[in-house]
Amino acid sequence: MTVKPALRHAIGVFDSGVGGLTVLQALRRRMPHRDFVYLGDTARVPYGRKPPEMVVEFAGGITRFLCNMGVEGLVVACNTASAVALPGLVELGPVPVWGVIDPGVEAATRATRTGSVGVIGTKATIASGAYQRRLEQRGLCVWAQACPMLVHLVEEGLAESPEAALLVRHYLSGRPRIDTLVLGCTHYPLLRGVLQREAGKDVTLVDSAEVTAERVEATLGSPPRCFVQGRVLHFVTGDPMAFAHTARVMGGVNGEIVPLALSELATPSAVHPVDRRAQPAWQE
Ligand code: DGL
Repeated sequence: MTVKPALRHAIGVFDSGVGGLTVLQALRRRMPHRDFVYLGDTARVPYGRKPPEMVVEFAGGITRFLCNMGVEGLVVACNTASAVALPGLVELGPVPVWGVIDPGVEAATRATRTGSVGVIGTKATIASGAYQRRLEQRGLCVWAQACPMLVHLVEEGLAESPEAALLVRHYLSGRPRIDTLVLGCTHYPLLRGVLQREAGKDVTLVDSAEVTAERVEATLGSPPRCFVQGRVLHFVTGDPMAFAHTARVMGGVNGEIVPLALSELATPSAVHPVDRRAQPAWQE
């Protein structure tokens, strides 16, 4: 059992990997005196290619874990989990819970001049139609594209590689004329350089980070003034060294990194008794 750390006015933040750190950075800029508990579920990344019900289960276990740490609010810094699991997490959490889809939609609505926008995200996010529906409800014309390989590049620290440029060119090749591109995956801001070069300088790239941080601060407010910088605790289900490396490549992300066993995130419903009769002979 993980020991509950001593935290001051902490906010929980999670993602399948390092992508949510882009949201964490925006939250810390706005609320430097709060503590943050970040959970990177790197043992199970990517979420974007998994069935929605699996992502719902992962997100539920993480929400319980972070709420047990005593956080005052929870940010689902993952578009995939926000797209498929948010309503259930809002019910589950005893604290306010924010997703990143609505903030991304708001950022796009603020940015577009012509009303033609694109959105890129994981397979699950794009298949859910979560962005498309909301953007169209605001009267915008939407082009959507799943980019399943990009998360791997970021997790491997290859955001500035020739391979990244090649894949981004491939994914953006079918786009119509758009003036705004929503980075509908929290890993993608780490590819901003290559995305901007491929999309062209006339296209405004937007992501959810700033608007999410704005909303969280508006609801939770700032803790009483103090001169001590808040601390960040990172729980990581996969290789802590790989997480530390990518976080360093991203720049500006520091804090303690604690390995976390997946069993700590198992939800009661996820533990099924083994039915021996159902096992194939080769397992006997
Ligand atoms: N960063 C996440 C998102 O915003 C998840 C990517 C993945 O694990 O596939 O969708």
